Amino acid sequence: MSIARSLLLKASRSQWLARQASERAFAKKAVRKFMPGEELSDALDASASLKADGFGAVLTQLGESLTGISEADAVRDHYLALFDEVKRRELPIQVSVKPTQLGLDHSLEECRTHLLTLTEKARTTGGFLWLDMEDSSYVDRTLDLYRSMRANYDRVGLALQAYLRRTPADVAALLPLKPSIRLVKGAYAEPVSVAFEAKRETDLAYFDIALTLLGASAKGQCYTILGTHDIGLLARLTARAAEIGAKDGDWEIHMLYGIRTADQRALSAAGRKVRVLISYGRKWFPWYMRRLAERPANVWFVVRSALAG
Ligand code: FDA
Repeated sequence: MSIARSLLLKASRSQWLARQASERAFAKKAVRKFMPGEELSDALDASASLKADGFGAVLTQLGESLTGISEADAVRDHYLALFDEVKRRELPIQVSVKPTQLGLDHSLEECRTHLLTLTEKARTTGGFLWLDMEDSSYVDRTLDLYRSMRANYDRVGLALQAYLRRTPADVAALLPLKPSIRLVKGAYAEPVSVAFEAKRETDLAYFDIALTLLGASAKGQCYTILGTHDIGLLARLTARAAEIGAKDGDWEIHMLYGIRTADQRALSAAGRKVRVLISYGRKWFPWYMRRLAERPANVWFVVRSALAG
């Protein structure tokens, strides 16, 4: 891992830096590169524009690691209202949540109850609920939560991270559930004992795991999401998908708002199903630091925003 990436990921865990950044106008300006605005209405408006251009969206409210379990009630209620609003506005929006945002650090069972409530809401409103994957200390519990959700509901999916050495085994264990899986490379600082250190190793693992998922999708055993902006990798996987019989309706591509926008349009124009994940909310600091860590050159954009006042 590069020094810049490692420093940015370390900074992402600083409460002090989070407080400083959220009060600085230049930081708020810089963060707009990756989010249409802090309010839910900003994300809904952006989703409506994306719909007009043929894209679906996935919405997530930023915020992780609550200070107390009672905060999770408000998060649950926020998402319940969001499912209703999405139905009312007839927008092609799915929802993605982080287990820690629903209290996983405080109570696995309360987090499970909240997730099942949201899953039921997704079912009754025709929505879809995704579980993000956080750092490796949460993987076992997140898989356990996903199994509970999947036991009774179809419209639920899970993110898995290609950089984790365990992921091929997790995929094999999940496939009998006919899961929906969003494969991403992985965004956290992890010890080399659990995750690949070299980007090249992660990229190779991504390709292999994605082929397994696409193969399962071709047989109706999985719904595959390729959650990446790596255009070369997507081109290779798209070619292989056709060879192994995974049709366009069996899989799709998800990318983050503000990243590789021209490529999102080109992929959509070429017939791929593309969804854009839009984040909103005031607690953007740790998430924003992870975006900077993915491409430390982004830091220059922040510096330019600061100098411009
Ligand atoms: P890679 O890092 O190789 O980037 C490929 C190219 O994309 C770069 O060369 C650059 O051009 C562009 N790019 C990538 N990141 C950029 C950035 N921040 N700024 C500007 N350009 C950038 N992670 C996780 O651990 N748990 C999760 O639940 C999720 N969920 C998730 C959902 C979706 C829809 C996406 C797209 C990503 C995630 N992630 C995630 C993040 C993921 O793990 C990963 O950190 C990023 O997607 C960056 O990796 P890429 O696959 O894009 O490849």
